[in-house]
Amino acid sequence: MDIRPEDPTQLPTQRRVRLLTQNDRLFHVILAQQFDRDLIDQLCRIAEMIRIIADARAGAKFLNTILSHKRAMLYFAQPSTRTFLSFSAACQVLGMPHNDVRDARTSSEVKGETEDDTIRTLSQYFDLIIMRHPGEGFAEHMAHMLNGMRRNIPLINGGSGKDQHPTQALLDVYTLYRCFAESLVKRIRPEPDSNLFEGKTIAFVGDLKRGRTVRSLAYLLARYGGMRLLFVAPDELQISGDILEHLERNEIEHELMDDLPKIVGDCDAVYMTRLQDEHDADGESKKIDLSRFALTKDMSHLFKPDLAILHPLPRRGELDTALDSDPRAKYFDQMRNGMWMRSALIAYIFGVDAVILDHYYSYYNF
Ligand code: CP
Repeated sequence: MDIRPEDPTQLPTQRRVRLLTQNDRLFHVILAQQFDRDLIDQLCRIAEMIRIIADARAGAKFLNTILSHKRAMLYFAQPSTRTFLSFSAACQVLGMPHNDVRDARTSSEVKGETEDDTIRTLSQYFDLIIMRHPGEGFAEHMAHMLNGMRRNIPLINGGSGKDQHPTQALLDVYTLYRCFAESLVKRIRPEPDSNLFEGKTIAFVGDLKRGRTVRSLAYLLARYGGMRLLFVAPDELQISGDILEHLERNEIEHELMDDLPKIVGDCDAVYMTRLQDEHDADGESKKIDLSRFALTKDMSHLFKPDLAILHPLPRRGELDTALDSDPRAKYFDQMRNGMWMRSALIAYIFGVDAVILDHYYSYYNF
């Protein structure tokens, strides 16, 4: 990276959010704190509409024209299956041609080009950059750099270091929304002020210290309130203080725990995570006994009948494959929901969400 004149990650959150906004709309998507409850609800509704519209040939054809005049670059400097493929599929849903760089060894970075110049170069050929990078703050730094370019284009963070994964958090909320809502109509047009999370108990389990999906999801859930969050992890991998402070400031009931079987029966949703040992310099975390933090088929007699089991995946041993056929397992739904939610987000960024709404209400307003 070039020398940073000012590190944006050190600015107050409100200022960081303002710098990522244009004309009162999201421009760059970097932080979960950029999303308020109205916007999350709106994106869930657009995702649901896209899903319905895309189901019919004529609808899929309509969607396919919406962004056919724009191009996207998927710049993934860290491995990914779901995020990469669901963004790729979302571009296809909206008719947006896209290209990718998944290995810096195929770019002029091997000739000494800086990552900043690589991003500046991409901004000349594409209208959107979707990025995954191992460096915390890297996507935010690049968004600020683009803000200073004559040709500024939006940048979406598809996962940055141990820090944030805001689009995963959006699809997680959308998945919970679909699990907790009673009817399709309620999902599309919730009653004003209704909070589907009111009274729910949601447990996060595993490596919560370095799980960026949990960090981002905690920020989004704090916009709703009314729920109880349980953080179930060994001491060494417990959720960090900044998230706890955020929950306290927002008066979200929460508790730190280390006994999954004891609390699983109270839960309306369990969000499992794997050990994030790619962030581990010395391999120390591999020595932690995680057997008490696994969800297994033989625990299923404890589950509520309508429990939702989520996992951003990939998984290791913490989520028993024998649970895959249980209707309460929602982690494959999560993947598919990601395609619709990412389609909704891209449509929103380019201001074509209103076109989708109009189409939906013209053809599907039952
Ligand atoms: N959930 C998620 O981010 O998966 P990938 O790492 O496969 O993209």
